[in-house]
Amino acid sequence: MKRLLITGASGFLGWNIAQKAKAEWTVIGTHHSHSANIPGITPVKIDLTKFNDLKTLFREKKPAAVIHTAALSEPNFCQENQNTSYRINTEAAINIAGICSDLDIPCLFTSTDLVFNGLNPPYSEEDQPSPLNVYGEHKLLAEIGMKNRCASVVICRMPLMFGRTGSTASSFLQPLLKRMRSGAAVNLFVDEFRTPLSGKNAAEGLIIALEKLPDVVHFGGVERISRYEFGKLAMEVFNYQNANLNPCKQQDIQMPAPRPRDVSLTNAKALQMGFRPEPLKVSLERLKAV
Ligand SMILES: NC(=O)c1ccc[n+]([C@@H]2O[C@H](COP(=O)([O-])OP(=O)(O)OC[C@H]3O[C@@H](n4cnc5c(N)ncnc54)[C@H](OP(=O)(O)O)[C@@H]3O)[C@@H](O)[C@H]2O)c1
Repeated sequence: MKRLLITGASGFLGWNIAQKAKAEWTVIGTHHSHSANIPGITPVKIDLTKFNDLKTLFREKKPAAVIHTAALSEPNFCQENQNTSYRINTEAAINIAGICSDLDIPCLFTSTDLVFNGLNPPYSEEDQPSPLNVYGEHKLLAEIGMKNRCASVVICRMPLMFGRTGSTASSFLQPLLKRMRSGAAVNLFVDEFRTPLSGKNAAEGLIIALEKLPDVVHFGGVERISRYEFGKLAMEVFNYQNANLNPCKQQDIQMPAPRPRDVSLTNAKALQMGFRPEPLKVSLERLKAV
């Protein structure tokens, strides 16, 4: 089997991709501050911001393709730690694209819906990015820099994701469910909309992208939904009758990173490629059954 390098295998999305990819690929999965004990993959501990280590990784592991998911993906952290964010979210991504170009191997990059400002949703691949926060800016700079270094890089813009994960990562769903179970108040925006996608569906989409190698593709989920409505749906599916959901507005809660109102992504191009995301309720019911 050919070797697939997944950066960020200890993270939420990398773990999900590794689960799917290992049937068809020999998977090498990187981790950094956490371990990546995923049965059936070869873990490699590395700080991807160290260029010499990165070159050694490619020289020793000889991947035939790369899916670069590793990132600092928490917008508030990036807003307050801009240099740290730039080094992994932009610089390391561009270096990886450069190496992939030199080796002439496919490189997929998981970017974000947060490259858009949220004023004109839904966003298709033709829309112009204009990020509101540092995280979105750094991911957009990565997109541009990677394309400059390696024209064949596949930019996969991902929506808000949720779902199963390994022991070293989390999605926004796990803390949400925990608070719901405890009966503690959960503030959820009624005026912030996304097109969420399960990690399982995201991994399926990315594996399709690895076969088709489009230029840019958006993996919007089936439904556009507010954070509050998502919480209500999760409460219903998980039957947390004591959950204490508090509908609120973005302006009610101050955070370091500005938040776009609606960065819903389209998925028409992905659907044409064979992507088949499930309705949210089906994804949540699947998670409940695990
Ligand atoms: N989660 C979402 O809802 C969402 C939405 C849109 C786009 N995305 C994009 O999807 C990708 C994956 O996000 P995620 O939610 O899976 O993130 P995550 O759970 O926070 O995982 C991030 C991964 O990056 C690794 N990493 C961070 N800094 C590193 C460094 N200096 N060197 C090597 N590895 C490093 C982490 O390793 P350790 O944990 O071992 O340190 C971890 O494996 C990111 O590119 C993100 O921008 C995510």
